[in-house]
Amino acid sequence: MPSYIIEGGKRLEGEEYVSGSKNASLPILASTILNAGTTKLYNVPNIRDTKITQEILKFLGCKVKKTKDKIEIDSKNIIKKEIPEHLMHQMRSTVILAGAILGRFKEVTFSYPGGCDIGARPIDLHLKSFEKLGINILENAGFIICKCDKIIGANIDLDFPSVGATENIILASVYAEGVTNITNAAMEPEIADLATCLNKMGAKIEGAGTSNIKITGVKKLKDISYNIMPDRIEAGSLLCMTAITGGKIRLNNVIPDHISPVLNKLEECGCKIKKEKRTVLLEAPKRLKAVDIKTMPYPGFPTDMQSVFASMLTVSRGTSIVVENIFENRYKYMSELKKMGAKITIEGKTAVIKGVRKLAGTKVMSTDLRGGAALVTAGLVAKGKTEITNIEYILRGYEGLDKKLRNLGANIKIKEGE
Ligand code: EPZ
Repeated sequence: MPSYIIEGGKRLEGEEYVSGSKNASLPILASTILNAGTTKLYNVPNIRDTKITQEILKFLGCKVKKTKDKIEIDSKNIIKKEIPEHLMHQMRSTVILAGAILGRFKEVTFSYPGGCDIGARPIDLHLKSFEKLGINILENAGFIICKCDKIIGANIDLDFPSVGATENIILASVYAEGVTNITNAAMEPEIADLATCLNKMGAKIEGAGTSNIKITGVKKLKDISYNIMPDRIEAGSLLCMTAITGGKIRLNNVIPDHISPVLNKLEECGCKIKKEKRTVLLEAPKRLKAVDIKTMPYPGFPTDMQSVFASMLTVSRGTSIVVENIFENRYKYMSELKKMGAKITIEGKTAVIKGVRKLAGTKVMSTDLRGGAALVTAGLVAKGKTEITNIEYILRGYEGLDKKLRNLGANIKIKEGE
């Protein structure tokens, strides 16, 4: 298994750009199933999660053609309506494909997605919503079989503004008979990107990005090309990785509004931030001030930024309080940070971080995607060498992270696994 080797202590400075959004690409790749034609997607990041999703599309019968900057998906001849178990378990967000297959074929079989290291991650809200749409659900030996004659628009109130459940309801309702109204919908920008893409194909979705979304069923979609939005979590991560080194960055292909809670907190830490249309300029102080963060559904502070931001706070001046309100097990990476000298105590959802002057490089292990990014953040300033193992977690969600950090002056390289 490959690992990162980082020699800490280099101040990051320079210009970088943000790749396309992982969490917009996955539902938009799924949406191509709905169009029995060809969809061209630009700015899909070349990462493990998008590759797995393309594998599943091919398994279903899609023709997938990839060039340097474009993925062309021909979904005319889909012959299978089940998601292969081994791929379901490799990536839980494949559950999004179920909504798309259901939306077009009124049937789908899939297995329970693997939980992962940040919590149980049930799909009860997805299944309850499918039932509201008139879909019969059978669970048999770990497989979920969904079938119906037709999908009928319904009013669906989500107990929790689940991103995946909101996306799955939209995908399953595009061709429904009648109107589907979602209340307490998730408001993440990735949902607005999915709706913009589907509306360009000819779907009728109103209110995406707010907590009330209305989907009016249509009969047909058409071939289009679409440019995926920038990855707001990669943007926040690169800004924090620069800030922890007291550095300076001009970050391009960012939508500042998508990360305003993160930018506000970086300013509270003492960073100078300048926002342009699709660029953020950040200049960090020599040493950051401690701040408190609480993760919330969008537009609150994003849970996906909790670990990288908390890692940055381990060397700030003062004591920070972090509260993780979305996932029940998203602090695993902190035991690895403590091996580097971070002073952290965890009480349930709350982590108290006492800023230290220095971290020490050592061998640490990625436990999940964003936890791994937190270890990279710490390694950039830790004294000496940090080896981060299990980096395939990180490669799932960050396109060319080591290349981008080297371009900013970091001493980071990939050591191929034994
Ligand atoms: C999406 O996951 C993102 N993944 C996650 O990013 C992100 O952390 C999360 O939304 C929250 O913003 C993708 O978009 C591919 P949820 P998702 O459904 O859809 C509970 C990353 O690092 N819940 O909003 O799985 C669930 O257990 C990943 O890029 C139920 O209880 O998130 C969790 O506690 C990690 N029942 C909370 O809701 C359900 O049926 C939020 O989950 C569904 C969810």
